[in-house]
Amino acid sequence: MAKLLNIITEPNKILRQKSKEINPEKIENMADFFNDMVFTMKEKDGVGLAAPQVGKNIRVITINTKEQPIIMINPIITKKSIFKEWGEEGCLSVPDTFGMVKRHKNLSCSYLDKFGNKKIIEAKGFMARIIQHEIDHLDTILFIDIAKNIKKLEP
Ligand code: CO
Repeated sequence: MAKLLNIITEPNKILRQKSKEINPEKIENMADFFNDMVFTMKEKDGVGLAAPQVGKNIRVITINTKEQPIIMINPIITKKSIFKEWGEEGCLSVPDTFGMVKRHKNLSCSYLDKFGNKKIIEAKGFMARIIQHEIDHLDTILFIDIAKNIKKLEP
């Protein structure tokens, strides 16, 4: 049974520590953690989740899609469009806050899947945006660091 993980929020120093690559040989022993991340992302209605948000400084992100959720281990953006576009973002680790962030419109991202197989995804628009937001988490960046017109909802 997957379990709900605790989501940490800003300010918390784990969000500001660089995440380490996962040793591919360890991937097969991490299935429970990956399932817990996916479960937590869905329960919290997140479009994506990065491991530091659940307290682990390791390089794994999950993306919520209409079809299967995607688990990306050691993701690396290998190509990105010069063209960027603005879009609104929020984050489970920065509750009730939204802002406009400029992101590359298209990208290619290589990663290992939960079986340790190398994959490449081509993403555009919202999907490309989520991947950039989540990889930023692995590199200590929160969207509020780079956003314009930040709005906080009144409690
Ligand atoms: Co986030």
